[in-house]
Amino acid sequence: MSNAVVPAIINVDVEGPVISRHLYGHFAEHLGRCIYGGFYVGEDSDLPNAGGIRLDVVDALRALNIPNLRWPGGCFADEYHWMDGIGPKDQRPSMVNTHWGNVEENNHFGTHEFMALCELLGAEPYISGNVGSGTVKEMSDWVEYLTREGDSPMVRLRKANGRDKPWRVRFWGLGNETWGCGGNMTAQHYADEARRYGTYCRDHGDNKLYRIAAGANTDDYAWTETLMKTLGSLGCAYRPQPFYQALSLHYYTVPGTWQDKGDATVFDTGDYYATMVQAARIDELLTGHSNVMDCYDPGKKVGLVLDEWGTWWNVEPGTNPGFLYQQNTLRDALVAGLHFDVFHRHADRLVMANIAQTVNVLQAMILTDPDCGALVLTPTYHVFEMNKGHQDAASLRVDVPSGVPAREVGPARLETVSVSASRKDGRVLVSMSNLDAAEAVDVELDLRGGTVADVRSRILTAEKLQAHNTPETPGAVAPRPHEQVTATATGLRVHLPAHSFVTVEARLA
Ligand code: AHR
Repeated sequence: MSNAVVPAIINVDVEGPVISRHLYGHFAEHLGRCIYGGFYVGEDSDLPNAGGIRLDVVDALRALNIPNLRWPGGCFADEYHWMDGIGPKDQRPSMVNTHWGNVEENNHFGTHEFMALCELLGAEPYISGNVGSGTVKEMSDWVEYLTREGDSPMVRLRKANGRDKPWRVRFWGLGNETWGCGGNMTAQHYADEARRYGTYCRDHGDNKLYRIAAGANTDDYAWTETLMKTLGSLGCAYRPQPFYQALSLHYYTVPGTWQDKGDATVFDTGDYYATMVQAARIDELLTGHSNVMDCYDPGKKVGLVLDEWGTWWNVEPGTNPGFLYQQNTLRDALVAGLHFDVFHRHADRLVMANIAQTVNVLQAMILTDPDCGALVLTPTYHVFEMNKGHQDAASLRVDVPSGVPAREVGPARLETVSVSASRKDGRVLVSMSNLDAAEAVDVELDLRGGTVADVRSRILTAEKLQAHNTPETPGAVAPRPHEQVTATATGLRVHLPAHSFVTVEARLA
């Protein structure tokens, strides 16, 4: 029996909003083995490192063109006091990481180490400041320490710690989840705090901060509305005041309950579809928050930053429950592919997104073995790599005139084919997912306004949705060339096996 054919029209000569490279951003928190044992192994480690930073991790992330890295949290950010993380390591005070495993944090990875990591990665730093348990002065001093040129108390301190030149820091978070772990504030109380903190986080010289207010959880549209109203003076003038330039949003894909989120590798087809329904909700959420923002800022000057997203499963058996270590299967890769398609469609308002988290925590790109140190690239890593051509490309609208195939999943309807496209430097990149667990489908790309040449396609799939990579089988889920792409009179026909992610890249002739 032949499979369904889904026609998809793409006008390759009609450019939509640019997909910021920052939609492919990352997040590293002092949580479990993300920093210690993940990014940072210390100078005495046998693993190749630069100042303690693990170099194979750096190489793997550079291959993704990692655009930015958010740090130091998460919930940790609101109990982090940056001055504890500067100066000679043996003199840095330690603290208890009460959110994540109640373990002692020795502060050996601090500001200078983070900035060195960003320099090695070629990524922009995104610093999340402490509103929950910090002070305005503390945050203001941190900005001065990092970004001021010339002479001042914080500049002298930075120089005494070995760094003469200021760093460039653009992205600055005014707290994290201030509705929860970041202080349990009401929306209005936090909105006023965001104005206050935003005021004293100064632009030093030509270093211009992009201040990101801690935004809503999931569908808390009232939180977004309060922040937009409090930002003030938008209305018809379209001139947002400079207290904050963007709002964040957090949304995790959790098909179970918070008490029992489901297992990362042991799941059935029903669990899989339930996961994809939760993942697809990101479209509803970005639309909802954007609609609220449009009411106060129709000119779209204020950015939306999804600075935590991804799957969240029960921790791997036998690991510290506070460390949030989870495996990563083909299912996670399909969740990522679906999110990116949605992100590309919201490129007019969504300016940044940061997957949680980069190494050894939640939906990671990289898992490292605590005993032998082996590094494993996850299926999710491969989606980031296959999609990197969308970074800073012009989005291209995709129309499916016959309607997208769908499945009923309980009371929900899941569209099982997802496509997005972009163009940059005379090339087009089309990403396609077949989310159906059992049925293949052909997507017939009707490419209007240009012809394509030098077509190259890759596929990420496996026999089972539960397939994942380990130190013993690191390539169980890895991209390979995809041959089932044929030229048609109007474009290309692309075969998508069940549960697969495919990219097609071509030169515009
Ligand atoms: O990413 C893990 C945690 O999830 C973060 O620390 C917090 O912001 C969110 O609740």
